[in-house]
Amino acid sequence: MRDITTENITRAVQESWANADDPRLKEVLQRLAHHLHAFIRDVRPSHDEWLAAVDFLWRCGQISDDKRNEFALLSDVMGATSLVDLMNDTPEATVGSVLGPFYTDDSPTVPFGADLVGDNEGDAILLTGVVRDTAGRPIPGAVVDMWQTNSKGVYATQDPTQADDNLRCKQLCDAEGRYAFTTVEPGPYTIPTDGPVGKLVTHMRRSPWRPAHYHFIVKAEGHQPIVTEIFFPHDPYLGSDAVFGVRAPLVRDISPVANSAGPPVATQRRPLHRIDFDFTLMPVAS
Ligand SMILES: [Fe+2]
Repeated sequence: MRDITTENITRAVQESWANADDPRLKEVLQRLAHHLHAFIRDVRPSHDEWLAAVDFLWRCGQISDDKRNEFALLSDVMGATSLVDLMNDTPEATVGSVLGPFYTDDSPTVPFGADLVGDNEGDAILLTGVVRDTAGRPIPGAVVDMWQTNSKGVYATQDPTQADDNLRCKQLCDAEGRYAFTTVEPGPYTIPTDGPVGKLVTHMRRSPWRPAHYHFIVKAEGHQPIVTEIFFPHDPYLGSDAVFGVRAPLVRDISPVANSAGPPVATQRRPLHRIDFDFTLMPVAS
């Protein structure tokens, strides 16, 4: 018999994981026991409060399916996703930001200078830059994978009225490591507010809004990929992003386009604005 008490229960739980073959998972679970029990000792939840917490998690599971992960949203609004991102950043590389739930790997590959504007509302914006390694060398053939909402803050993957591949693309950088395409400014949007996480956020008088952003994944052979976002300085939600994704180096001005400026682009509407954003990738140690 083991007489479990307030004093020894944490040690007992930690010891229950001690025979695991996976040393990292063993460490994680033992540290989780330490911090979870410390949280309970600190907060001293009543039975009803603890049952409410367990019920909240159950409801997160109930509303999740193959297209929706309420636990990922919970991680986002608690800042856990962003903290993991920040702690795994490489200081020399472009700072990362949240992937979010709207990425799909099947965006069309478009040529340098492509036009994504189509019938979308908004001024055309030239989005261009160079992908380099941490030594400053351009990376020809790097893949820039971008996805964004339309001006109303809606992704094509959420909206049957948009073409499947609207406002998303992959592009291979040219011989100088450049990417360039024209697109429109995305709109801000709220996290889903119909589930337990969104309801908690609004109940607690937190803003459910995300500032408008472009999402990027940038990859190149022999380099660590980057998942990041670009934001705009005029955005009213820049200081209250519901998922804590804003980083100062990722806020970028939309500049007027000088007549002769920028790489050649095929456009349906002449871009009046441009955003310049260079990416820096960390080579993988060989
Ligand atoms: Fe997003």
